[in-house]
Amino acid sequence: MPLWPYPLVFAHRLGGALAPENTLAGLLIAARLGVRAVECDVKLSADGEPFLLHDDTLQRTTNGAGPARALTLAQLRELDAGSRFHAAFAGEALPLLEELATLCRSGGIQVNLEIKPCPGREAETGRVVARAARRLWQRAAVPPLLSSFSAEALHAARIAAPELPRGLLFDTVPANWRAQLDAVGALALHCHHASLNLALVESIHSAGYAVMAYTVNDVMEARLLQSWGVDMLCTDRPDRLGELQSRV
Ligand code: G3P
Ligand code: MG
Repeated sequence: MPLWPYPLVFAHRLGGALAPENTLAGLLIAARLGVRAVECDVKLSADGEPFLLHDDTLQRTTNGAGPARALTLAQLRELDAGSRFHAAFAGEALPLLEELATLCRSGGIQVNLEIKPCPGREAETGRVVARAARRLWQRAAVPPLLSSFSAEALHAARIAAPELPRGLLFDTVPANWRAQLDAVGALALHCHHASLNLALVESIHSAGYAVMAYTVNDVMEARLLQSWGVDMLCTDRPDRLGELQSRV
């Protein structure tokens, strides 16, 4: 495998469990902890603008309700994405992809953009996010790593911005993982940490791919995965896993 340019530890959904997920408040908390890489979820507003949100619907993490894809970016930006986590974060907005890029580039933080399409918008989301990432990270020393559970979204991203590295996400690693990675030109396999073992990590490396494990919150588990050679760990507890960050 070629030299992998990303750090070991990625804060999941920007701030992990320490802040409202996928918010700039979380990113700032992670940055203050010394986190050098973050993962976040990107989808499209009704008017086709990329913004950060995990769920297809709004009610779990914001004061809105119903499908996120039904609202324009201006309507989404009126929502409070902080109060459901804690009153101290009241008024926190759903971030634009552009805001994330500005803050991460100025802070030297590497990014894994998980393309999280609303159902039926897989190819459009892959295309729009890849084009935006190309523009927003122009001339960056390390490009954003694009990932998705949707092969269709990654395929569209590949056509739109073939130079951006891609990772294919699995919950459980399927037997035909290599064919699936090849089909979207992925450089990395991303999967649930419980799906990995030493032999599988060695097979994936031997085939020339990097490995990301999510969501790893226990330091002993993280050390075991690191000892197997896992290249990236996505965690809700960047405060606990910070001590492992010395590799890159
Ligand atoms: O990218 C790793 C992880 O974020 C995938 O699962 O559901 O937290 O987006 P989820
Ligand atoms: Mg994610």
